Amino acid sequence: MKKFLIGLVTGILLMPFGFYLYCRSGHAPVATASAPMPLERFFAKTALHATIRREAPKTVPFPATADNLFGGVMVYRQNCAFCHSLPNQRPSPASRGMFPRPPELFSQRGMVTNDPAGVTYWKVKNGIRLTGMPGFSQSLSNLQMWQVSLLLKHANRLPATVAAALNSAPSGSQPAGGSQPPKAKKKA
Ligand code: HEC
Repeated sequence: MKKFLIGLVTGILLMPFGFYLYCRSGHAPVATASAPMPLERFFAKTALHATIRREAPKTVPFPATADNLFGGVMVYRQNCAFCHSLPNQRPSPASRGMFPRPPELFSQRGMVTNDPAGVTYWKVKNGIRLTGMPGFSQSLSNLQMWQVSLLLKHANRLPATVAAALNSAPSGSQPAGGSQPPKAKKKA
């Protein structure tokens, strides 16, 4: 029994040391193009889901009117398209070099239309640590954060005018998603 306990304690003490050596070895995946670290995805997702389940608002304080969806379009084009791209365009230049990759929130695969708007709102407000997803509580108003969350909730059933505004040519400045023309079909 004593031997077992000594073994157990030594094992427990050796684990952090082993992890330290692993990090110092220069083989740990730290570049965005590397594979995830052992258990990285599990820790990130489990902790995130548990927190969001506890904290995300259950009621939506603003309706999905055309006005609010248009507000969401303005917010999205200025703050989100840089990473999450615009509909029918190839992934934005920044997104192609990120790990984890920002989902294309207007593509079939990347849409968050199944998530409650409150969950998306939580992510927009607080960001997602260690992923590159910023929190916008310091830079957007509460209304703006809800507007963009409503836009994403309705991404697959937007009124035609709202969808058109999302894709419209930028007035004066570059589109946030990159400088490629809307229909560019070059392979990434
Ligand atoms: C600098 C890059 C960047 C910007 C700018 C950015 N995001 Fe993100 N976002 C990310 C990344 C990376 C992820 C993936 C996080 C992950 O895998 O857990 C993400 C994840 C998300 C998710 C969760 C997607 C899912 O499938 O659960 C939502 C929703 C989201 N972002 C919305 C937004 C909105 C809205 C804006 C603008 C207000 C925005 N993001 C701006 C990088 C960005």
